[in-house]
Amino acid sequence: MTATLNAETVNKNITYEDQSSNRSQVCEEILVGLTSSFKYIEPKYFYDEYGSGLFEKITKTDEYYPTRTEKSILNKYASEIASACGENAIVVEPGCGSCEKIRLLLDAIRPSLYVPMDISADYLQASAATLSAEYPWLTVRAVAADFSGERIIPHDLHVDDVSSLKNSSKPQTMVFYPGSTIGNMTPYQASDFLTSIRTSLSSGDGIILGVDLIKPDGILNAAYNDREGITAQFNLNILSHINRVASADFKHDTFLHHAFYNSMAERIEMYLVSKAEQWAEVAGELIYFEKGEMIHTEYSHKYSLEGIGELAQSAGFKLEQSWTDDQDYFSVNILRVV
Ligand code: AVI
Repeated sequence: MTATLNAETVNKNITYEDQSSNRSQVCEEILVGLTSSFKYIEPKYFYDEYGSGLFEKITKTDEYYPTRTEKSILNKYASEIASACGENAIVVEPGCGSCEKIRLLLDAIRPSLYVPMDISADYLQASAATLSAEYPWLTVRAVAADFSGERIIPHDLHVDDVSSLKNSSKPQTMVFYPGSTIGNMTPYQASDFLTSIRTSLSSGDGIILGVDLIKPDGILNAAYNDREGITAQFNLNILSHINRVASADFKHDTFLHHAFYNSMAERIEMYLVSKAEQWAEVAGELIYFEKGEMIHTEYSHKYSLEGIGELAQSAGFKLEQSWTDDQDYFSVNILRVV
């Protein structure tokens, strides 16, 4: 489904499209998860407007090191990352949120087109408008889409006025995928996701990929169980979101946040645990929960640099370069189409 989000052109350099899923697709998807023997809700449902705000708060807690560490790497190596992007790059950012991290690279990369994409259309529109006002030279094409579906990169990306480009060679498309969001997929899903991206890219194009690294369990457990309880609120908010989008009646104080590092599987696992035996109605269906039964809400896989190389290779990319922080907590990587 494609529709113009806002008929009015806010600024000549910014356009909006809405390619998000409709309500019946959403209900069906949620019911598939909640009626399976291992109940789950996909993590994309964390990110309604309130959930996106809670995620921003998580990134500012003492325990959640990934965001500030990744930003320090982007800051420190912005010019090297820009060199890997080449001149006039088209930068596509699936799941851009507040478009905060791209700000650390824009002046260095000077892309000819920036395509922020997000599932939350209202949030995207606000973020893209703010960014566009801050960077008047930047051409922005904001696309509201559920990029976990088949097509990740819009198929008709181009720079309208090619004559204005500084040289005539074809600009590289660089997908910016920071924040270790790739870790929220299983390694198989991550490989499929990168493969789908690769099918929209050509030789020379690439991905700037932020990936959280394996580290001692204590640091990881603390990062997903912050003292202020913001991660717990974030996890529970998924139920409020489901209540709205799938006519459900979850009472979120009847579930508990549970997150731990599974060192064998090299991932954080996050669940909501039913405090009591209960029923919930979801899109007209009654769903039963035993006391202690868990709804899986998120995995957050951690990688070694070697693992990132293997993942890249499995999807037809080469791991060209990696930058890390002094403690090797986080990595920013260039994956290049082979
Ligand atoms: C967005 N994603 C990479 C975060 C993570 O660390 O896996 C989401 C998150 N979940 C709990 N805290 C943060």
